[in-house]
Amino acid sequence: MSDFAEIKIGDSVISLPIIVGTEDEKAIDISVLLAKTGHTTFDVGYKNTGATKSAITFLDGDKGILRYCGYPIEQLAGKSTFIEVCYLLLHRELPTAAQLADFEKNIAAYYELPAEVIAVLDVLPTNMHPMGIMSTLLSTLTGAYPADLEPNASEETHWKNAFRILGHMPAMVAYIYRKQNGLAYIAPSADLDYCGNFLNMMTGKVDKDVVEALNVLLILHADHEQNCSTSTVRIIGSSQANIFASVSGGNQALWGPLHGGANQEVIEMLEEIKAVGRTAEEHISMVKTKTAGVRLMGFGHRVYKNFDPRAQIIKKYCDVVLEKLDIQDPVLGIAKTLEETALSDDYFTSRKLFPNVDFYSGIIYRALGIPMDMFTVMFAFGRMPGWISQWRELRAAKEPIGRPRQVYTGYTSRDYVAIENR
Ligand code: CMC
Repeated sequence: MSDFAEIKIGDSVISLPIIVGTEDEKAIDISVLLAKTGHTTFDVGYKNTGATKSAITFLDGDKGILRYCGYPIEQLAGKSTFIEVCYLLLHRELPTAAQLADFEKNIAAYYELPAEVIAVLDVLPTNMHPMGIMSTLLSTLTGAYPADLEPNASEETHWKNAFRILGHMPAMVAYIYRKQNGLAYIAPSADLDYCGNFLNMMTGKVDKDVVEALNVLLILHADHEQNCSTSTVRIIGSSQANIFASVSGGNQALWGPLHGGANQEVIEMLEEIKAVGRTAEEHISMVKTKTAGVRLMGFGHRVYKNFDPRAQIIKKYCDVVLEKLDIQDPVLGIAKTLEETALSDDYFTSRKLFPNVDFYSGIIYRALGIPMDMFTVMFAFGRMPGWISQWRELRAAKEPIGRPRQVYTGYTSRDYVAIENR
């Protein structure tokens, strides 16, 4: 097979190399296109555009495959812990027991929040959305570590910053919740593991089944290649902004209802269906007629076009968790009927719309005692190792600043008219 693609514009033909990834996915390298032809490409929403080479996460949307550094998500979710997955994403290898213990120790050294972060948290308005607070706190870390913001800092500093973010995340998430609910902060405990320590700071108790469920949820969210928030982290990092600013921006991108904000929207949708007594069929029909722009939240994905492997794990896990915790959530039944109705409807099947990771995650978060407006913060908590790892990959590859082109459609040149003559 040819290793080149040809583009014919007018009478001239240029050859562009085809690059092939380790999973045999192919891309036409257009980096010389503008210089050689004066043309750019046009791809709104980057649906066909590869923006980087990455060795962290592989996903095949048609086959429903998701792997972190080669390891299938099903195996990691079933056998690993979130902290081990953090190590994997940052080092690209699974740790030995000694390496993992050392890694955990380095992270636990940052369990306590810096005074600057507590000070900011204490003055932010309590009606601010937890996602807005989270971005603010991540940015505040620049005030806690002002000497370590250089993009070309030593490897040691980059590692320290990674440990700082991962170490501070549990307390930041827990304290956002506690502050907003008028509850006293609970000090971190180095005797507990990463997820246990988080749950203790959040809820004041640690239950083995809840810790296990939390590990699975965080693992499923840990990375997802070049999605909206990760691309945001990379594009901010490409300007050589520091890691704290970059992940703070990634968090803002995650907030939107089409991305991480969908987990909160799913529960709101299910609650509304219950409250107004609408049937699954009635809701599906509202979605299909595109009434008031209603989408079936928790359905569809830019890349997965047959199934989302994370959703399959979560759905099974949802039943297990609710049973273990002896919780009957009335919206679970509505979710299941909605899913069955949509999956047998041509509108959804013809557009390849299937449940995504967020369809059932909110039901589990709720069972774990996490309030609805914290769901997207929980997504950010899980995604953090992915963002850090992708930022480090970008910096190590010394990628140039991200700067897309456009096709300009505004006025062409015209003369300024003095205000009295308009
Ligand atoms: N409900 C109803 N119709 C939908 C949905 C949905 N959830 N998703 C897509 N469509 C329709 C859309 O209206 C369009 O139809 P038509 O061709 O008639 O105009 C067609 O499917 C293609 O939609 P699109 O918006 O071009 O697809 P996309 O790949 O740009 O969007 C998506 C992907 C995830 C933003 C979208 O499916 C969506 O809005 N889903 C609901 C929000 C959601 O659950 N987001 C969480 C994603 S998974 C977590 C994460 O990693 O972010």
